[in-house]
Amino acid sequence: MAHRGASAEAPEHTLAAYTTAFGLGVDGIECDVRLTADHHLVCVHDRRVDRTSNGDGVISTLELAHLEGLDWGSWKHLDDGSAPEGADRDPERGRLLTLRRLLDALTRQNQELLTLVETKHPTRYGGLVERQLVTVLREFALTGGDRPNQPHVRVMSFSLLALMRMRGLAPDVPLVYLVEQSAPRFSWDGSLPTGITAVGLDVRIVRRTPSVVHAHHRRGHTVYVWTVNDDEDVERCAELGVDVIISDRPRHVLALLD
Ligand code: G3P
Ligand code: CA
Repeated sequence: MAHRGASAEAPEHTLAAYTTAFGLGVDGIECDVRLTADHHLVCVHDRRVDRTSNGDGVISTLELAHLEGLDWGSWKHLDDGSAPEGADRDPERGRLLTLRRLLDALTRQNQELLTLVETKHPTRYGGLVERQLVTVLREFALTGGDRPNQPHVRVMSFSLLALMRMRGLAPDVPLVYLVEQSAPRFSWDGSLPTGITAVGLDVRIVRRTPSVVHAHHRRGHTVYVWTVNDDEDVERCAELGVDVIISDRPRHVLALLD
């Protein structure tokens, strides 16, 4: 799965990053969503716009029109300091992506692609992020469970409260409970909150305690691991039978797995 799109090659969370990933033949994509001040869901990781645009401020205090006026691509440089190929030609490399535009592009692919939507939810909005998410997923007929040859969706969160809200609003949408290295150890023995059967593990947990993958598999859970960018981690995940590898470098991971 392409984490924030093919985000090593193109500015994260732009349509350019996602279309690059589709072209590579990934099985799916990951995307973070945040709510703007006027209640649109936009694909941005950070609470603030500063790192990935030429603006400044907190997403939840800014309106969509303002965010759409920012440049979301010029900050991106490759590891060697150069601008990504085609950076000056593709306007999508600098354009904010809304969840609706991403799902529109995804459904046009006409493949069984999986979309992992992670809710980043400012507490000031209560359950509004989840309600807006369900509204948008319904527009694209993505709340009816998995169907053959159709795109499908999982909702991921570090917040159990956010997942429970989703369960209440759209029981057919499968959920993934994200666990980071600093999380309490309870999830490491393979236990998960009631009703959740998929876990998204920080790759550092898998490095330190590889048996966590088998512990979850023994309980019948699907295991996602993020963010898997190094060769050693890709090999470790493959050997352990991890179900879903989430990477900023899908081109490289696919070549390694081949
Ligand atoms: O796929 C889960 C992963 O994206 C969680 O961490 O900080 O990259 O959103 P983060
Ligand atoms: Ca994420």
